[in-house]
Amino acid sequence: MTITQLKSPLETDAQSFYAPISRPRRLRSSDAMRRLVRENSLSANDFIYPIFVDEALKEPQEVSSMPGVFRQSEKSMEVLLKQVETAKIPAVMLFGVSAHKDHEGTDSFRKGGLMDRMVRRAKDTCPELVIMADACFCEYTDHGHCGPLDHIHNDVDNDRTIANIAMQAVTAAEAGADVIAPSGMMDGQVGAIRSALDQSGYERTAILAYAAKYASGFYGPFRDAAGCSLGQGSGPANRKTYQMDPANGDEAMREVALDIEEGADMVMVKPGLAYLDILYRTKQAFGLPTFAYNVSGEYCMIKAAGRNGWIDEDAAMMEMLLAFKRAGADGIISYAALDAANILQRS
Ligand code: PBG
Ligand code: ZN
Repeated sequence: MTITQLKSPLETDAQSFYAPISRPRRLRSSDAMRRLVRENSLSANDFIYPIFVDEALKEPQEVSSMPGVFRQSEKSMEVLLKQVETAKIPAVMLFGVSAHKDHEGTDSFRKGGLMDRMVRRAKDTCPELVIMADACFCEYTDHGHCGPLDHIHNDVDNDRTIANIAMQAVTAAEAGADVIAPSGMMDGQVGAIRSALDQSGYERTAILAYAAKYASGFYGPFRDAAGCSLGQGSGPANRKTYQMDPANGDEAMREVALDIEEGADMVMVKPGLAYLDILYRTKQAFGLPTFAYNVSGEYCMIKAAGRNGWIDEDAAMMEMLLAFKRAGADGIISYAALDAANILQRS
């Protein structure tokens, strides 16, 4: 900051001889002034609300590691969808919690399977909401990986997975999904989905690609919620052969570029909080509608600290959500979306 010397220190008292020329504090002087110069804001329009639909449940059941988040039954999902619509949140992301798991995760693409029923019911309940279907297999496979295993290489079989995910996408589109959101990080998955949708007459169905998704330690509570923790059984012990290495930033740009080439309409960076640099770079470099996934671990950290009285939970949550906007996100997938929309409505 530039400083003017007003008087010599010898002639005056110590408090008055330096005065800054530039005074940013002028624009922080009142609530109205702060609102006037505010650069970013949150609104209900920014949110996508994730919903877990558990086919084994009769009543909603709270996820113990995610206070305030309930796995829904197929029926109780309707109540929650209407709350989302009333809160003016434009979109939901649906995750099935399967009781019919097998090696390939076939219930995710079977006619009459959970994906089909869940999407159809959501679209019937709230036709005006944007219904997004998370497209993956980990919630539907008995081993918990994001696609069938190739036992020779002890890894997920990439090309078999994308053949299956093409079927899953068509099943979801047929059931009424507006957006397919592939989250498995298989090579070529966006291209496979785009061509299958187009060939089946669903050229109007959009793709939100989980383009840069990292092998993160912040997914733990989600895996409790969705029942997709990796067992001790077959397959690799973690997802590092398909999800990205947290050390890499340039690689994320290549992953995003590939998904756009293959036909992604929107892209996502996941997780959000520890990857704001990736979010910023993605928006700057490609300019597509870009979303941040405020993942389960980020949500539960704030909930846990808030419950301990260590932080102001609402303030910290809103600050985190706003950070995604400031970094360039067009929207945020967040378990806090419903609470945040209600807080915004009150303020
Ligand atoms: C599954 C999937 C995961 C999440 C979204 N989709 C878990 C994973 O990759 O292990 C994580 C979401 C969260 O933690 O909130 N493909
Ligand atoms: Zn998965």
